[in-house]
Amino acid sequence: SETVTRNQDGVLTVGGIDVKRLAEEFGTPAYFLDESDFRARARAWRTAFGDDADVFYAGKAFLSRAVVRWLHEEGLNLDVCSGGELATALSAGMPVERIAFHGNNKSSAEIRRAVEAGVGRIVLDSFQEIVRVAHIAQELGKRQRVQIRITVGVEAHTHEFIATAHEDQKFGIPLAGGQAAEAVRRALQLDGLELIGIHSHIGSQIFDMSGFEVAAHRVVGLLKDIRDEHGVELPEIDLGGGLGIAYTSDDDPREPHEIAKALTEIVTRECDAARLTTPRISVEPGRAIVGPTAFTLYEVGTVKPLDGLRTYVSVDGGMSDNIRTALYDAEYSVALVSRSSEAEPMLCRVVGKHCESGDIVVRDAFLPGDLAPGDLIAVPATGAYCRSMASNYNHVLRPPVVAVGGGEARVIVRRETEEDLLRLDVG
Ligand code: LLP
Repeated sequence: SETVTRNQDGVLTVGGIDVKRLAEEFGTPAYFLDESDFRARARAWRTAFGDDADVFYAGKAFLSRAVVRWLHEEGLNLDVCSGGELATALSAGMPVERIAFHGNNKSSAEIRRAVEAGVGRIVLDSFQEIVRVAHIAQELGKRQRVQIRITVGVEAHTHEFIATAHEDQKFGIPLAGGQAAEAVRRALQLDGLELIGIHSHIGSQIFDMSGFEVAAHRVVGLLKDIRDEHGVELPEIDLGGGLGIAYTSDDDPREPHEIAKALTEIVTRECDAARLTTPRISVEPGRAIVGPTAFTLYEVGTVKPLDGLRTYVSVDGGMSDNIRTALYDAEYSVALVSRSSEAEPMLCRVVGKHCESGDIVVRDAFLPGDLAPGDLIAVPATGAYCRSMASNYNHVLRPPVVAVGGGEARVIVRRETEEDLLRLDVG
């Protein structure tokens, strides 16, 4: 972000504070999140979609109470996918009608809690869940607003584990074979449900808009079939999240206003062709809002040159604070940030401290040849799916998230302690 610069000694400063001071005050590893950048990105999405559409931030990317408050203040809604995320949202004061509840296997207890609390919508993911939510709502004397998540059969060009709209996977109800139409039929019959729309999420870290185009075409096709069969025009469609961000300089992400324009045009065009009233659109960006707003600061512990191969640089975290490289072959960049260096760059692999050779943070990167223990290095774009996927592997303590802004830094999620770990161990 613009608030990140280098001072005359080559020390990276964030929002006016240098990283050496941040490391002293908060320790390493730690995630530093630029609050004004987060707010600006949230606002850009909100503004791009305007008042005729809704933006639901996908909490799975990163959720904390501070973030919920910022989102609320910036006029965004929130997508949660577990009781834990719902509890976080409610405890931070997100208006419950602005919460959407997702997931392919919500428990009955989670559903009950969501319906009782009055969430704005539940996104139904299976035939069993249609019945389950309807029963619970009826028991509670309520009519729950719901969408049905369908799989449109699109192959999104992204990693297999984060593509979600092709047919052979666990999410949603297939459009193919008339299954989605059957799900709609059932939902429309149940008193406990108010079917407000159709949902499609095609995957994550996507740059190519053509997948959304196909998805929108098929979702609108279903809306048309529903109108023809039942005489109802569902008022909403949700096109999910999944917009890619720049992890390295090779990635070229789209701006929110371009995305909003493209999606709105596609849906409007398809609806006009089908003579349908254009439904209210919603989207669920997670990564595109929080991803670029944070970096992870590590201290170098050892530097091990392997002749003819590369130099292994071990840091004080690893796959417990960023599993994405190990899990998805994700690419990150890295830089020395505690000083400047004129030394020749050397090919490095930045690895963690875990007991496993796949514990890689940055697979291949050039760092200065005089890199030494005690140097601080930073990995940018770790705001999404890093803290939220962090683990205690090897009983390593999960790092804090520190919000930086206006010349101040404050902890929004504190560092885990050994006490935290031992508190759970009651054997
Ligand atoms: N909506 C739904 C229904 C989703 O399942 C997801 C992400 C999103 C929205 C937000 O997608 P985003 O805009 O953040 O790409 N752990 C993986 C990503 C998993 C995404 C799961 N669903 C990663 O680190 O790349």
